[in-house]
Amino acid sequence: MFTERLPKVLYGGDYNPEQWPREVWEEDMRLFRIAGVDIATINVFSWARNQPDEQTYRFEWLDKMMDRLHAEGIRVCLGTSTAAHPAWMATRYPDVLITEHDGRRRKFGRRHNSCPNSPTYRLYAERLARRLAERYRDHPALLLWHVNNEYGLRCYCDHCERAFRVWLREKYGTLEALNAAWYTSFWGHTFYDWDEIVLPSALSEHLSSSDPDATAFPSISLDYDRFNSEALLSCYKLERDAIKDVMPDAVVTTNFQGNGTYKPLDYFKWARELDVIALDMYPADDMTPAQMAMRYDLMRGLKGGEPFLLMESCPTQLNWRPRNAVKRPGVNRLWSLHAVARGADAVMYFQLRRSLGAFEKFHGAMIDHAGHEHTRVFRECAGIGEELRRLGDALPGARTKARAAIVFDWDNWWAIEHSSGLTVDLRYVREVEKYYAAFYAHNLSVDLIGVDAELGDYDLVVAPVLYMLQPGYAARLERFVEQGGTLVTTTFSGIVDQYDRVIPGGYPGELRELLGLWVEEIDAPMVHQPNRVVMTAPLGGLTGPYDCGVLCDVIHTEGADTVAVFEQDYYAGSPALTRNRRGAGEAWYLATSPEHAMLRGLIGQLCDAIGIEPVLATPAGVEATVRAKGDERFLFLLNHNETAAEVELEGGVYVDLLSGATQAGALGLPARDVRILRMVAAPDGEKMPQMTTGRSER
Ligand code: GLA
Ligand code: ZN
Repeated sequence: MFTERLPKVLYGGDYNPEQWPREVWEEDMRLFRIAGVDIATINVFSWARNQPDEQTYRFEWLDKMMDRLHAEGIRVCLGTSTAAHPAWMATRYPDVLITEHDGRRRKFGRRHNSCPNSPTYRLYAERLARRLAERYRDHPALLLWHVNNEYGLRCYCDHCERAFRVWLREKYGTLEALNAAWYTSFWGHTFYDWDEIVLPSALSEHLSSSDPDATAFPSISLDYDRFNSEALLSCYKLERDAIKDVMPDAVVTTNFQGNGTYKPLDYFKWARELDVIALDMYPADDMTPAQMAMRYDLMRGLKGGEPFLLMESCPTQLNWRPRNAVKRPGVNRLWSLHAVARGADAVMYFQLRRSLGAFEKFHGAMIDHAGHEHTRVFRECAGIGEELRRLGDALPGARTKARAAIVFDWDNWWAIEHSSGLTVDLRYVREVEKYYAAFYAHNLSVDLIGVDAELGDYDLVVAPVLYMLQPGYAARLERFVEQGGTLVTTTFSGIVDQYDRVIPGGYPGELRELLGLWVEEIDAPMVHQPNRVVMTAPLGGLTGPYDCGVLCDVIHTEGADTVAVFEQDYYAGSPALTRNRRGAGEAWYLATSPEHAMLRGLIGQLCDAIGIEPVLATPAGVEATVRAKGDERFLFLLNHNETAAEVELEGGVYVDLLSGATQAGALGLPARDVRILRMVAAPDGEKMPQMTTGRSER
C-alpha cells in the first residue's frame, strides 16, 4: 500500500509554474518552505506547452521545475497533461473534439474536451505519457503520477457510437440476447442489425438535452453509462500502462471529482486500476459534516479500507459557484483535518498560487494575488503545514475498522434515476446519506462498500434502495443473514435484474423469502398525503411516531414480524418496518423513507443489540472517529460547531499528538477545533484494543 510508506501526511497541491516567470518560481520556493509544503502536483494542463506541434516535444521547463522542487525537498505528483488537448490538434484532427448530448460537435475550447474513443487522442495521449515516463522515470523528485484530470465527460460522436456497438457485441454476443435484455419489444425497438443501434442522447432516446437522466429506454441509457465509464477508464489505463511499461514500480492515480459521489463514473470499478485513491473535495455550501464524512468513507471504501489522498481542496473561496464566500478562520484547518480523520494521508490544495488571468483568476489559493506570506489564508495554511509536520509518521497507513457497512452501487444509482417513476423525489445518494447520517449521529464507524465486497467481514449491512440486484447478490445476502448477520434494506429493493427488467412474481423479487414479505403496491404519496410510521411497541429508543415519505409500500408479511406500521391512508395499520429471523441472523425491511430521528434510533438500536460500540458519545456537532495502525489507536475529535463544546473521555487516557499533553476526563474543545489523541489507556469497559489494521487480517 502506497501511503503506509509515507514519512508523514503529505502537504501541498496543484502548482502551475507554467503561468509564472522564473523570479516568481524562486519566491514560490521560499513561500513553500514557510508553509511546510512537501508535495506539488505539476504539469496538469501543459500539453500545449510540452508539445507545440505534432513532432516536437519540449520538456526543458519541466526538467528545471522538477530539479528546482527536488532541490527544495519537495516531491512531485506528475501530471500527464492529457486533460486539455492543444489547439493545433483540434484544428488538424477534429475527431478529437467531442460531440454533445444534443448532437453539437464542439470546437476547440475549454478543457476535458477530448473524445475518449478518438484514435488520434488516444495515440497522442499514450505517446505523451510514455515520453514523460521515459524522461522522468529516474528523477528523484518523482513520487507519483497524476494521469489526466477529473475524467468524466460524455461524448456522442461517431467514434463513440461505433465503439458502443463493439462493446455491446462483446457483452451480448447476439442481437437476440440484446433485444431481450433491453426489452425492445416495447415501442417497436427490435434491432436486426448492430448498426441500427445509436447512442442514447437528446437526438434519440433522451427526453431533454439538459437532463441526462430522463430517457425513454433506461436499459439502453444504463448500458451507455457503463460503456462510457469504461471508455474513460480505458483512456486512463492506456496512459497508466505506458507509464508502467517504462517504470514498472510507478505509483499511478487520477483525481476523482464530484466530491467522490460522481455519477458518471463507477469509482468502484475505477479503484481497481488506481494504486491509490485521490479525491477532489469542494463541499457544497450547504453540505453537512456527515455528508462530507460519508464521501471520505466512500473513498476509503473503494480500496477495501486503504487510505486515500485529498488531492484537491480549496484553502478559501472558490470562483465557480454563483457566490463564493471565503472560508472563515479555522474552517480550512477543520476540513483538512476532517479528511485526515477519515482516512486521507495527504492534504493538498487547488491551488498553491492564485492565477492572474482566465477562468480561475479568483479561485482561492495558498498564495494570494498579493504574492506574499502576510495574509490570513497563508498564515492558516502555514499553521496546518506545521501541524502535519509535527504529526510525523503516526498516521500514514492507519485505517478505520468498522463492523457495519452501507452498500453503494453505481449501477443501482444509474438504474434508479433513469427510471421514469415512481417519484423524482427518490434520489439514490440522498437515501444512502440518510442511513449514513444515522451512523454518524452516534459516532458509529461504518464502511461504504461495493457489491463485490465480502459481506462476511461485517455484522450489520445496510443496503438502501437496492432496486437493482446483481446476479447472485440475493444469495449472498441470504448467506450473510443465515450466518448471523443483520441486514437492513428498504422500499424499492429487489425490483429489477442487471438489465433493468422487473423480476416478476411480486416485489421484492429475489429478496422476498429472505425478508419474509410481499410488497403488493408501492405508493409515491403526494405532498397532501403525508404519512407516519407508528411503532407497534417501543423498541429501545425507538418510540415514534415518525414522519415518512418518498415511497410507502403496501406489504403482506410472509413470516416477518411487524415492528411498526403506517398511520394514515388506506394502508393504515399495514407494516412499515419488519424483521425476519433467518438462520442465525435477521433481515429488516423499512417500507418507506422516514425522518432522521427514526433511522438514528433504528441504527442505534441494532448496533446496540449486536454489540457494535460507538467510538465515543459526544455533544451534537462534535465528531469522534478513530484511525488505527499496529497497536496504536488515534482518536480524532472535531468540533464542527461555531461554539465551544465539552467532550467526556469516558475514562480513557490519551496523549495529544500536537501538544504532547496528556488528556483524560473532560476535554474542552473550542469552536471549529480539532484534537488528535493517541490512546494510552482504553475508556471504561473497553479493552485496550489489539488492533488489526485491515479487513484482510480479520
Ligand atoms: C477541479 C480541477 C482543477 C481546478 C479546480 C477548481 O477540481 O481538477 O483543475 O479547476 O477544479 O476548483
Ligand atoms: Zn466521441
